[in-house]
Amino acid sequence: RALDISIIGATGAVGAELIKLLESSQLPVSRLRLLASRTSLGRQTRFRDEICIVEPLDEIDDTQADIAFFSAGGAVSAKYGPLFAAQGALVIDNSNAFRMNPHVPHLVPQVNPDALAVRLRSGIVANPNCSTIQLVRALIPLVTAFDVHQIILTTYQAASGGGLKGIDELLEGTRSALRGRAPPRAGHFPFPLAFNVIPQVGEIASEGVTLEERKLVQESRKILGLPHLRSTSTCVRVPVINGHSEAVYLGLEEPVPLERIHELLAIELDVLLYADGSHGEYPTPRLLKDPTVVHVGRVRVNPENPCGLWLWIVADNLQVGAALNALLIAKLAISNNIIGGQ
Ligand code: A2P
Repeated sequence: RALDISIIGATGAVGAELIKLLESSQLPVSRLRLLASRTSLGRQTRFRDEICIVEPLDEIDDTQADIAFFSAGGAVSAKYGPLFAAQGALVIDNSNAFRMNPHVPHLVPQVNPDALAVRLRSGIVANPNCSTIQLVRALIPLVTAFDVHQIILTTYQAASGGGLKGIDELLEGTRSALRGRAPPRAGHFPFPLAFNVIPQVGEIASEGVTLEERKLVQESRKILGLPHLRSTSTCVRVPVINGHSEAVYLGLEEPVPLERIHELLAIELDVLLYADGSHGEYPTPRLLKDPTVVHVGRVRVNPENPCGLWLWIVADNLQVGAALNALLIAKLAISNNIIGGQ
């Protein structure tokens, strides 16, 4: 049956991807409501055969929908998410407003689909952090098959993780640097990102750890169902427009043959393995072959410790890390009869 869908943050980087993915999906849509701030009043987008006009969120007088996708920041989700949920919508939230709420499932459909049952309490499902989604999707076959006791990772996160403003800032900064101008004052990022590397994503929370680093550790433990996993990360912003990369080190209890690791990754759904690293075959964020899958390369055993394994994980953070995961959550909810439509 056809669905009444609202996208909150429809003019943003994730919102735009969601509209594209929805357009090409098989989901029947009776109404698509595009919501944003007042600055986008009147903007138009074609969806299938119709023109949709963007409405300001704070001017709508009803919050009725079957599904409400939120990607307009934590404050907007915290204020409006419960209003949509109270009217019966399944809220799929891309912010971190509800991720640690025990009544809100934190869902990557390929990894922990059973968590969706909890949604009946709140009406809200949290889409995990973009870096978490690609990490857990690559690691799930390995942590299921082997005893992994430690994860150490560094992320290399693209400007698009900071939304359209992040992309604009990188492009503007690059243009002005090439013209020999002084770097613009820091805006969305703490330092100019063009021709630079910034070892800080999000605010520094406590003990020198950033919010992003803390999210990555806590969320991956929760989704993988490994609450005691020893895990630590450094999150770094790099001058890449789109596509997050991660260098991940796993500490295993026992040595495992590399062929076995390859086998498990090769059969994992929607994971693309670049097995032959010796020929310089590995994924890079600018040249991803497919924005809908998780790319894994440079899989190797630490020559100094047979219980240590390195992986290089790359994915399109706007699709795999946000919009696509949100859409897959919606599809899972439909197949579980959690949402119906009219
Ligand atoms: P707008 O474009 O009207 O500002 P991004 O993450 O790419 O920066 O996008 C953020 C999205 O969230 C945009 O669609 C933006 O709308 C929307 N947004 C930001 N603040 C609000 C708000 N207070 N109410 C509704 N939408 C908002």
